[in-house]
Amino acid sequence: MRGVTEENGMYLTSEKVAVLGAAGAIGSNLVQTLLASGTAHQIALYDPFATGLEGTAEEIWHCGFADPRITWTTDVAEALAGARFIISSGGAPRKDGMTREDLLRGNCEIAKELGENIKRYAPQAEFVVVIFNPADITGLTVLVHSGLQPGRVSTLAALDSTRLQTALAQHFGVLPEAVTGCATYGGHGEKMAVFKGGIAVAGTALTAVLAGAAVNGRALDATEWAAIVEHVRDGGARIIKLRGRSSFQSPSQQSIFMLRGYLGQPYSLPCGAYLDRDPWHHVMMAMPTTFGPQGLEWTAPTGDAADLAALQDSYQHVAALRDQVIGMGLLPPLADWGKVNPHLG
Ligand code: 2OP
Repeated sequence: MRGVTEENGMYLTSEKVAVLGAAGAIGSNLVQTLLASGTAHQIALYDPFATGLEGTAEEIWHCGFADPRITWTTDVAEALAGARFIISSGGAPRKDGMTREDLLRGNCEIAKELGENIKRYAPQAEFVVVIFNPADITGLTVLVHSGLQPGRVSTLAALDSTRLQTALAQHFGVLPEAVTGCATYGGHGEKMAVFKGGIAVAGTALTAVLAGAAVNGRALDATEWAAIVEHVRDGGARIIKLRGRSSFQSPSQQSIFMLRGYLGQPYSLPCGAYLDRDPWHHVMMAMPTTFGPQGLEWTAPTGDAADLAALQDSYQHVAALRDQVIGMGLLPPLADWGKVNPHLG
């Protein structure tokens, strides 16, 4: 199994996982989920906030997990040294009234530093998941500066798809697993592309439902579908309004399940992938993805004309944000990416 050099029978891997931002809500839930899901138990916790970090470590020990090999440090070099896997929620979270894009400059400064630290202290890293927003751009910034191969760095993108699945299940009064093929592609932001092409509800294609078929005695017309799309686009902001803070349980769950996907477990939701093939270049965004020998691999999604137009719009948006970050000096000009990361030349 990829990444596994030692197994103790309880966890998928005994390789070191570095969790950055571990004093925060997402970070501490990442550690909890790594252990509770039987994924990993050698976990290095990093955060600049020492007391909160020690608090996370203490509480994780108090959970009573089997064989917890937890360390904590405010020294990022120590946390990254020898880490096979890195998951970072170590940016500023979104607050009420903000878009993910409002975090661009501050979190891209953090992402640049993270990429440089990976290059310096963890060039052996096999799989890196970047969670902090705007994730498409922070993930891209980490990749460029890390020197890692494109398939080794990804971003959390799945929440838009799980939000779509949830909204449809609630509308039709069916279990979430009865709604299949939910996927959003492109950026994890205001311009995400919510695809309808592959969705089926209790076996009935959503396109047939939109043409008049009923499921569980319920119909869905174009206006209701448009409202669901908006609800999905607004999903993160809605959690902030409801809870007074950015989501933390769902990002943690899905990020660890991405790692489980890397480790050979089934994982079918879209992940952020580096794209540099026509018609998409020099961006990271959500695509249909699988895990192979080089890490994450992507394919182009299929959808109807409206789906594909939304994806193109999303790509333009992500590319424009990337260009802003180049303008800030936090990413090099496109022509110089190969000098910073030879895999991107
Ligand atoms: C969300 O969509 C935090 O970006 C994350 O809730």
